[in-house]
Amino acid sequence: MLDFAHTTKEHDETRQGEALLIENNVSKGNGRKLYIESYGCQMNFSDSEIVASILLETGFETTKNYQEADVVFINTCSIRENAEQRVRNRLKEFEFAKKSNPGMIVGVLGCMAERLKAKFLEEEKLVDVVVGPDAYRDLPNLISQVDDGNRSVNVLLSREETYADISPVRLNSNGITAFISIMRGCDNMCSFCVVPFTRGRERSRDAASIVKEAHDLFNSGYREVTLLGQNVDSYKYTAPTIEGQEASTPVNFANLLALVAEVNPLLRVRFSTSHPKDITDEVLHTMASYDNICKYIHLPVQSGNSRVLELMNRTYDRDWYINRIDAINRIIPGCGISTDIITGFCTETEEEHQDTVSMMDYVKYDYAFMFAYSERPGTLAAKRYADDIPEEIKKSRLTEIVAKQRAHSFERLQQFVGKNQRVLIEGFSKRSDKDFAGRNDQNAMAIFPVDERYQAGDYVTVMIESCTSATLLGKIVD
Ligand code: 5AD
Ligand code: SF4
Repeated sequence: MLDFAHTTKEHDETRQGEALLIENNVSKGNGRKLYIESYGCQMNFSDSEIVASILLETGFETTKNYQEADVVFINTCSIRENAEQRVRNRLKEFEFAKKSNPGMIVGVLGCMAERLKAKFLEEEKLVDVVVGPDAYRDLPNLISQVDDGNRSVNVLLSREETYADISPVRLNSNGITAFISIMRGCDNMCSFCVVPFTRGRERSRDAASIVKEAHDLFNSGYREVTLLGQNVDSYKYTAPTIEGQEASTPVNFANLLALVAEVNPLLRVRFSTSHPKDITDEVLHTMASYDNICKYIHLPVQSGNSRVLELMNRTYDRDWYINRIDAINRIIPGCGISTDIITGFCTETEEEHQDTVSMMDYVKYDYAFMFAYSERPGTLAAKRYADDIPEEIKKSRLTEIVAKQRAHSFERLQQFVGKNQRVLIEGFSKRSDKDFAGRNDQNAMAIFPVDERYQAGDYVTVMIESCTSATLLGKIVD
């Protein structure tokens, strides 16, 4: 237990300090309108909520329309070249908007900002601010510099920053499902991946602040949280020891999952992303022992061939991955499994590609994110290996696995047809407000007619009558 009485005075002083800071900062926002658009992974979307929180504290308001914004931020992704190209195209549209709104400040946040740093300001004349993922606390100051007629950059990476004390402002939220960032950065150095360079070293967030965020979300009506990290299985946090007290016990990912699951049995817990080298049986047993930890694991395989996995520096081989899949199926029967796959990595032969295909047949993934290899400047693969697989071969291998995955997704969804599924209603379906949409435990999306007795945030039993390759269709049963 924390000793609150003991720390009250200290807290009062900090509060005053904060109040002063906020007063000074409020003039920076001055009711100006902020627009943020996010690309890439869930972590980026989660970061944008931290950015919004920091700027709302300083007197900004948010808007959903960039044409009426005073500050336009684009939170960017560098993972593949086409992700960066999409951002550049979007910046051109902002350039057009700036012509009729010359005072508009345009900022580039996230991985592309970190990768290109000040070079961005040379390349893209309309960009006023460049901010890396660990420098968001500096945003009010950077915006002030622009107000003073300068362009500003902060791309310092940190070994400590986790934004643990910042309550994210939920953007575009359905009010039911939310992300909680539990760690930042990545230490793995997969040879194809730019993330360790753009997001820096791995660090875990204070467990107590994570549990508090989950509590607060539950009390505000949220019913599902997704714990986010590049490699959640290596989460590890030890609270600083208070003088005169026993040393704190380290919290690993399995412990953290249990702590969050205990917030309330009605709060569903999901997480992403797991790493095949680090996912432990302890995590699997914890998942099995809590009804509210969803039975779904995203376990990127990248390739089904051991030689290619070695070149990718994934630090596991085909047998190890299969062993982890077998453990999941043994400890959590019926668990949903999804993956990431890259086709056409440096020197990949047709035979090695077929190992990926046979891995898909072995696991029968519920879902997969599939990509053609895209060389990223500065990565180990870019330095060590030639990007020697012709584009059309990368694409034809990709087409092959996409078709296979579509068949597997359909097959996996069919297992639910004729069965009752517990579904959390997330809101109306995208197509019609006559239907509700929500997911089952294994993350499959279900669509079913609205029943007036229920609303978003309720758990209902849905009888699944049919499915497409992406969606379950059914009706609520009592
Ligand atoms: N080329 C293609 N796909 C990539 N990914 C990461 N880097 C690259 C790259 N250079 C994919 C991996 C990863 C996912 C987030 O993006 O499959 O798991
Ligand atoms: Fe990139 Fe590998 Fe880290 Fe994932 S685990 S972010 S693929 S380096």
